[in-house]
Amino acid sequence: MEVEVRLRCGVIGCAIAPAGASTGSGEAVDLRDGGAAFGGYDVAHAVRGVEEEVAAALRGRDVTDQPGMDGVLVELDGTADKRRLGGNALVAVSMAALHAAAGAAGKPLWRYLLGEGPARLPLPEIQIFGGGAHAGRRVDVQDFMVVPVGASSFAEALDWTAEVYRAAGARLAAAGRLYGVADEGGYWPAFDANEDALECLVRAIEDAGRIPGEEMAISLDVAASELHQAGRYRLGLERRDLDGDALAELLIGWIDRYPIVSIEDPLGEDDVRGMQRFTAAVGDRVQIVGDDYLVTSARRVEQAARDRACNALLVKPNQAGTVTEARAALDAARAAGFGTIVSARSGETEDVTIVHLAVGWGAGQLKVGSFARSERMAKWNEGLRIEGALGDAADFAGRAALGGSTPDGSLP
Ligand code: PGA
Ligand code: ZN
Repeated sequence: MEVEVRLRCGVIGCAIAPAGASTGSGEAVDLRDGGAAFGGYDVAHAVRGVEEEVAAALRGRDVTDQPGMDGVLVELDGTADKRRLGGNALVAVSMAALHAAAGAAGKPLWRYLLGEGPARLPLPEIQIFGGGAHAGRRVDVQDFMVVPVGASSFAEALDWTAEVYRAAGARLAAAGRLYGVADEGGYWPAFDANEDALECLVRAIEDAGRIPGEEMAISLDVAASELHQAGRYRLGLERRDLDGDALAELLIGWIDRYPIVSIEDPLGEDDVRGMQRFTAAVGDRVQIVGDDYLVTSARRVEQAARDRACNALLVKPNQAGTVTEARAALDAARAAGFGTIVSARSGETEDVTIVHLAVGWGAGQLKVGSFARSERMAKWNEGLRIEGALGDAADFAGRAALGGSTPDGSLP
């Protein structure tokens, strides 16, 4: 769903809402029409809501007052989860208004958000193998990613990633297991066990001439809510059910044996106790990211900080439904000492707003999917353009951007 915001001065702001496949239950609702057309995914109803109600409510307002505009959207919708007008409709309006405001100021969005301060390009995490809901559950873990922790610039980080991506493809081809790519452009995960993907990833890093852990580390998104059934976690590929403790033990074993620096949603979105125990066990060694667990909600971030249930936030603006609410979640995470990662969704477009948010908000990290397919490359390329525009003034977040460590590692 694309929205245009036109200002009296003639400036137009434009944004497109993304969509997730492995959504958290606490997310703003992605409003679809249902019925037979387009498999039920049409957005005619959401479009009508913007053209009629939203346009009438926003016409004449000051576009530079983003919190005010977003407040109107939230009030107009009137539901806790934005199901009346749709989180997809509202986030597109909110981001389009933000683009219009930057355009009116005559600035690139990242600079408009940042002000005159120094700009830092984010540390990227890039998917090499897709899995879970993004690959027909061919393997259980959703994202096998690399993090170029030793790179000295965003461009170098992407150069290294390109080489690792090629090397991983070459390994799969040599094994007769190269079957194209999954939803986010990572290779189709034709592995016999989840751990085989980790093994292959380390070898690909070495094939690419990089030192595992030192130059190129590994990040996982377990998306464990997708595995959760009746209090247990189902590893379909390995034909076994684990309880929370056993899943945590399995993941900690991987952390011990592989250069993993970040792990997202290691346990289910309702498993507070599991997340606490996991964070107490390894939160001083790895970044523990809440995606489905936090759904870009400031309130949930504050609770997770009190619970010591993770130490980093994935920021997906469409989970919140407005730019202002996404920013509030990021601020809450920062106040808690959490790492922050601005993230795309598995359903993406050419829209590059999130790259500007990552730089303009100084988030430190960016997650976009793999190093293939134009909806992914559009984001990486935008980051390169920003770094190029900054020239010598460009700074790169690097390893220091990773969240980690609980204050004392103890359970509350
Ligand atoms: P989604 O996946 O966009 O399908 O929710 C991305 C993620 O889990 O990080
Ligand atoms: Zn996730």
